[in-house]
Amino acid sequence: MAPQASRREFIRASAALAVGARLTSVPSLAEPGPRPFRAAPLKRVRIGLVGVGGQGTTHVENLLEIPGADLLAVGDIVEGHARRAADKIVETGQPEPRLFTRGPRDFERMCAEMDLDLVFTATPWEWHVPVMLAAMAHGKHAATEVPAALTVDDCWALVEAAERYQKHCVMMENCCYDRFELMTLVLVRQGLLGEILHGEAGYLHDLRRVKFSSEGEGLWRRAWAQTHNGNLYPTHGLGPIGSCMDINRGDRFQTVVSFSSPSRGLQQWQEEHLEPGDPRRRERYILGDQNVSLIQTARGRTIYLAHNTHNPRPYSRLQLLQGTRGIVSGWPHRVHLEGRSPEHAWEPAEQYYDEYDHPLWRSPKVRDMDRGHGGMDFLEDYRLIQCLLRGEPTDFTVYDAAATSSMVELSIRSVRGGGKPQSVPDFTRGRWKAWAPWPIVEA
Ligand SMILES: NC(=O)c1ccc[n+]([C@@H]2O[C@H](COP(=O)([O-])OP(=O)(O)OC[C@H]3O[C@@H](n4cnc5c(N)ncnc54)[C@H](O)[C@@H]3O)[C@@H](O)[C@H]2O)c1
Repeated sequence: MAPQASRREFIRASAALAVGARLTSVPSLAEPGPRPFRAAPLKRVRIGLVGVGGQGTTHVENLLEIPGADLLAVGDIVEGHARRAADKIVETGQPEPRLFTRGPRDFERMCAEMDLDLVFTATPWEWHVPVMLAAMAHGKHAATEVPAALTVDDCWALVEAAERYQKHCVMMENCCYDRFELMTLVLVRQGLLGEILHGEAGYLHDLRRVKFSSEGEGLWRRAWAQTHNGNLYPTHGLGPIGSCMDINRGDRFQTVVSFSSPSRGLQQWQEEHLEPGDPRRRERYILGDQNVSLIQTARGRTIYLAHNTHNPRPYSRLQLLQGTRGIVSGWPHRVHLEGRSPEHAWEPAEQYYDEYDHPLWRSPKVRDMDRGHGGMDFLEDYRLIQCLLRGEPTDFTVYDAAATSSMVELSIRSVRGGGKPQSVPDFTRGRWKAWAPWPIVEA
């Protein structure tokens, strides 16, 4: 542990020195400013995709509809998956992409040999960091599916690489762009919820069938439940709550405590659904079915964060935000504003969309472009390309990726310590105090 930590300290210090020495007038991640980082605008965004299974294919379909996005390279360890993506690309009239299918590290060849602006990974979790580090080291912006990283050291590695190479390193947290979450942000920005004091968020999704599937996530996701016990998927809940609480832009996650329930759901499913001779029957799981964390922010606000993918239950991300003037809550989506809602009663969120829908959800431009692939997933890809083309800061930064993803290891450590409080590293190194909140962006 110690040599690794000191090596990390060293790299961090050298990167900070290098960045500080090099930059005087160029906008930098290392300088405090109203927004974290902007790169030069691009005429077109030349993209390499790594990992085109379920979610990667969704991104391919979205990106093909977004003007200015060119899909030039596709990598996957399964040749058929890469071929499927290439066929979709060619069908829309784009040139045949180059394929990288020579094994799990072939993305390194893609990053080294191809002239790309952005490398986008939707691989299983353990590959996110290696792909993004290779991309940035070869001068490309990097984007990843969630979570960006699974250890605190890897979160730092992403921050250090983004700063050293002056590249965007974005975690694609689609839930930040869902309609209710974005309307909540509008309510917050207009002051209708008053001062925000508390949030509740989670990923509560019965994935037992998915985890035992013989394809897709069934091939890799269950393994994490055999070795890790904490919150393995914190970002869907924390991303949107973080936007509303201005995390890394006026506040930051400071301390977390976490507890896990016993692990039962996968074991029970395995016994009830697998044939007696199935080798998966020998697997033993340690991931507590229900994980519960409590986070306190630097400004003293509180967040309840939950994770459960192993028990029968309808889907929810909770999405509750309590302010001094009102409250919103997801699943079902509802609002209560003092002075407007009936006393002590919820109103359905639908009653608020006419007045407070976010501009991204109102935009006819986005609606015309998005030929059915859907809402939040399309919007996150659209916004990334738009920011790169315009040379604007991305909506979410490497610091957001690190702060939310660090909860994976921090929750695991806290659970292991019987709920021992864990300090959340300040990945911004104090700059969260100066950076301005995410504005209400237009399409
Ligand atoms: N944001 C969301 O709503 C959402 C939804 C689903 C999945 N995800 C995330 O997307 C990622 C992928 O999940 P999925 O459901 O698409 O899984 P999947 O198994 O369907 O797809 C993963 C793909 O990566 C390929 N792959 C594996 N290792 C590789 C490597 N080293 N190099 C290149 N390709 C490799 C696999 O062959 C497969 O095609 C995960 O991080 C997951 O958490 C996010």
